[in-house]
Amino acid sequence: MTVHQEEPWAEVGVIGGSGLYALLDEVAEVRVDTPYGPPSDALFVGEVAGRRVAFVPRHGRGHGLPPHRIDYRANLWALRSLGVRQVLAPCAVGGLRPEYGPGTLLVPDQFVDRTSGRVQTFYDGLPLPDGSVPEVVHVSMADPYCPAGRRAALEAARGAAWDPVDGGTLVVIEGPRFSTRAESRWFTANGWSVVGMTGHPEAVLARELGLCYTSVALVTDHDAGVEAGEGVTQAEVLKVFAGSVDRLRTVLFKAIGMLPADRACVCSHALNGLTTGLPGD
Ligand code: ADE
Repeated sequence: MTVHQEEPWAEVGVIGGSGLYALLDEVAEVRVDTPYGPPSDALFVGEVAGRRVAFVPRHGRGHGLPPHRIDYRANLWALRSLGVRQVLAPCAVGGLRPEYGPGTLLVPDQFVDRTSGRVQTFYDGLPLPDGSVPEVVHVSMADPYCPAGRRAALEAARGAAWDPVDGGTLVVIEGPRFSTRAESRWFTANGWSVVGMTGHPEAVLARELGLCYTSVALVTDHDAGVEAGEGVTQAEVLKVFAGSVDRLRTVLFKAIGMLPADRACVCSHALNGLTTGLPGD
């Protein structure tokens, strides 16, 4: 099915990480094109807790896209063009502290960008799809995550008998390789909590579109600097994620039901006073 971009189909978006390639059972598969090219895959639209939800597998269904090749702009633009205004973003991360072992769920409140060369803005002085050229736009990023979304994710996790970590800093590396022990020890020494590969520029681009964005980080391993051993392996990451994916899905479903239908958070005001030229505003 192909939809016209402005048709409002969904309110909540979920961007599934490694190992989360499907979210909903009863879904419409929707192909959306964007000015930036196609998103990682079709969008899968269905209903959860009375809310219309659009799911996009961040790496594609077959995990064909490594973190640095994901078109983050296309994914977020596609979600927004379906009507999405609130995004939950699960991701696999490495723990940077001994107490953050595999299976820990952490809802970060900050991130640090250690990626390089990723496109991280919609507002680069080039014309938007309608031909208009937006003014220069600088969005506030002091608090990158939605406070209401974070509350919902934490409460949902507790309701699923998880004991989530409330807050912490997600450092995002370029990948696709994992960190050296020295890099990892440096991250820990800086006070950062977990390390992943996809949280940036996703959060920034969501803010630039005025979307609420909540990262839900599932620790799949201790990063290389935390404990002596072989370091992180891809197999370990995927195995741990697979072992927690049902519980994570439960958390996401509960969180969707807890998201406020009317937004009153900072994210909803992020574009106030800015001339963005975005469709649908
Ligand atoms: N994703 C899962 N584990 C990770 C790690 N240790 N570093 C970066 N990304 C990850």
